[in-house]
Amino acid sequence: MAEDICFLTKESLIIKPPKKSPLLWRMTVLVFATVFGVYICSICLKQISIQTMTRFQSIKNIEWPLHNNKLLENSYRHYPMPKTFSRAECACNPVRFFAILSMQRSGSGWFESLLNSHKNVSSNGEIFSVRHRRESISSIVQTLDKVYSLDWYSSASKNECSAATGFKWMLNQGLMEHHSEIVQYFNRRGVSAIFLFRRNLLRRLVSVLANSYDRYAKLLNGTHKSHVHSEQEADTLAKYKPTINCTNLITDLKEMEMATAKALEYFNSTRHMIVYYEDINRSKLKVVQEFLGLPRMKLTSRQVKIHNGSLSDHIKNWEDVQKTLLGTPYEEFLRLGY
Ligand SMILES: *[C@@H]1O[C@H](CO)[C@@H](O)[C@H](O)[C@H]1NC(C)=O
Ligand SMILES: *[C@@H]1O[C@H](CO)[C@@H](O)[C@H](O)[C@H]1NC(C)=O
Ligand SMILES: *[C@@H]1O[C@H](CO)[C@@H](O)[C@H](O)[C@H]1NC(C)=O
Ligand SMILES: *[C@@H]1O[C@H](CO)[C@@H](O)[C@H](O)[C@H]1NC(C)=O
Ligand SMILES: *[C@@H]1O[C@H](CO)[C@@H](O)[C@H](O)[C@H]1NC(C)=O
Ligand SMILES: *[C@@H]1O[C@H](CO)[C@@H](O)[C@H](O)[C@H]1NC(C)=O
Repeated sequence: MAEDICFLTKESLIIKPPKKSPLLWRMTVLVFATVFGVYICSICLKQISIQTMTRFQSIKNIEWPLHNNKLLENSYRHYPMPKTFSRAECACNPVRFFAILSMQRSGSGWFESLLNSHKNVSSNGEIFSVRHRRESISSIVQTLDKVYSLDWYSSASKNECSAATGFKWMLNQGLMEHHSEIVQYFNRRGVSAIFLFRRNLLRRLVSVLANSYDRYAKLLNGTHKSHVHSEQEADTLAKYKPTINCTNLITDLKEMEMATAKALEYFNSTRHMIVYYEDINRSKLKVVQEFLGLPRMKLTSRQVKIHNGSLSDHIKNWEDVQKTLLGTPYEEFLRLGY
């Protein structure tokens, strides 16, 4: 294991038994002093680790599956040895494994681009959008193994100096279907989950409908785009206003809510945190970086929000939608600005 290479200095503590000689007494004193020094040092280390433990406990939204935080911390630090390259000067830096668990059109593209702006993060995109990789639990495990051995290659790969590596995974890409095996895998391999959800499910629905319309309408010079990098492009895409079928609206919103709740329930025993799209700001990103054990950096993204401003500007049959939702638990979706 790379761990052994990183902590070879332990061997220098081994003291050879002294030969019968006038030096015996001096050696005994030396050994005693060394042992005493190590003992004092271990007490110091223990105190330091208690401090970091309390710091970790104060982070909100993190639920630990075990009670021994110290043990847990270690089992989420990895020293992978990729087959395709050498970790070189970063071989002794630990790597955290993560997965962003989300639903389509919930801001995960933006969130991932923010994470990837960190020089030590490799988030490899939606790798399970390719069907054969999620065909069975064994193909899923094979894919996960490749990602977490750092041998997965994508444009986001930072290779030797990754301190956190992962990808984003949509709930409908085999994640819910094979949840119990995946939870086992996460807990066995020390993978942390970051749930990314959107509070305003009506806005999500608008985005789903508009994106699926653009899939064939291809509003931007004949190419379909799910994410844009300029306000001009955002304006072009937002010109299309979807009509929402109000017959099923309440049921659809309820189903989205249930899927979220179910995912949280299934993955409750993993080390995880929950991020809501609407809450992402600098301080939230700080907490995410701490959760992933990263040196803190300012994260940036070039992506521009497509459906900016009031929802009434983005839905064709706004009156009907309003009538349908007034007086229901989903009424606030009409007003929430984001
Ligand atoms: C982050 O990456 C830089 C190189 O880009 C490297 O020098 C540094 O050690 C890395 N930090 C961690 C914690 O891996
Ligand atoms: C379409 O392409 C033209 C020229 O290639 C460019 O100037 C224009 O900005 C593009 N429009 C959009 C909406 O991307
Ligand atoms: C709305 O959905 C219902 C049930 O799926 C369907 O019967 C109806 O035709 C849809 N209405 C429109 C306008 O598409
Ligand atoms: C997760 O587990 C904790 C403690 O076991 C429990 O209090 C909480 O309600 C669970 N959450 C979900 C979403 O099941
Ligand atoms: C970030 O959002 C939270 C609420 O989600 C808020 O309390 C906090 O002040 C915001 N921080 C910044 C730096 O905007
Ligand atoms: C959203 O729209 C407002 C004005 O309506 C504008 O000031 C702001 O920059 C826009 N934000 C994004 C992300 O496009």
